Amino acid sequence: MSKITPLHRNVKLLCAVTSDNHIDCKHPIPALPMWYLTQSLKDAQNSAHPVDAYITVGDTTSRGSDKNWRLAQKCFQKARPAKHIFLTVGNHDLWGDDGYDAAEANYLRYSNAICGTHHDKTWFSHTVNGYKLIFLGNTQDAGCEAHLGEEQLKWLASELDAANGAPAFVFCHQSLNGRHGLPRTWDRSGTATDPMEGGIGTESDAVAAILKAHKNVFYFSGHSHMGLCGEKRKQDEGYASFEEENGVNLINLPSLACGNHHGDDRAMGIGVVIEVYEDRVAIRPRNFAHRAMNRKVMIRDGKPYLEVPLQ
Ligand SMILES: [Fe+2]
Repeated sequence: MSKITPLHRNVKLLCAVTSDNHIDCKHPIPALPMWYLTQSLKDAQNSAHPVDAYITVGDTTSRGSDKNWRLAQKCFQKARPAKHIFLTVGNHDLWGDDGYDAAEANYLRYSNAICGTHHDKTWFSHTVNGYKLIFLGNTQDAGCEAHLGEEQLKWLASELDAANGAPAFVFCHQSLNGRHGLPRTWDRSGTATDPMEGGIGTESDAVAAILKAHKNVFYFSGHSHMGLCGEKRKQDEGYASFEEENGVNLINLPSLACGNHHGDDRAMGIGVVIEVYEDRVAIRPRNFAHRAMNRKVMIRDGKPYLEVPLQ
């Protein structure tokens, strides 16, 4: 067990990121996902260096009901993990017994209350310590896929333009189609064959083209509940949690509290720490429940984390 400690001196931005927390009053043991979420918040709070932003990549709740959001809020009341908190919306957050609009309203109401923000849309951006954090979100019910819409895609391009080559961090619940082993890593059975399954869906190519037109872009997703997969799996099976494509870094997070499959490390409690320096970015998997950085899954170049020099 050790506190979150940056790899190097002079870290300019430090973020703790988890995904798919799935707070659920109908869980056989509702306190279990709440425990994992609370542990991650406390771990961030106890960091050796103050965490600038605590971020989730969607599915904070299993269904976006009042009851579930109140349980999530309870967890966030137990710790102050960072100066900023941002919750990406996930497909499960937008599902509820009262339909899409009610679930979206709950997401906005509770995430604004938890984060101290005033968003009126599921997509938004913030600049923290000079770095863009960009959050994508659905604009209508799209089942398991994303539906961002033309206005949001144009906005994404303009946000990345405005980053002007500085590292920019995009958070979207769904990964690009076909990355990270999709569609076969979409579920435990590994039998999915539709190339869109488990990814953004029809807008995937449009999002990929925007990301690839910019330098130093880091794209984070969750959604598939794939465990942490390292570079050996990339060699052997062709996919990993950390992938790179035309200079764009694609990072898929395991589920923090809902179980994982297909991974080299399928434990719950895993997320990542983002460390931004003047000339590089490090992204380091961490087991927030064990309060330990990943040491067993090699991510890139034989190291248990990703470290990329800026372009
Ligand atoms: Fe999920």
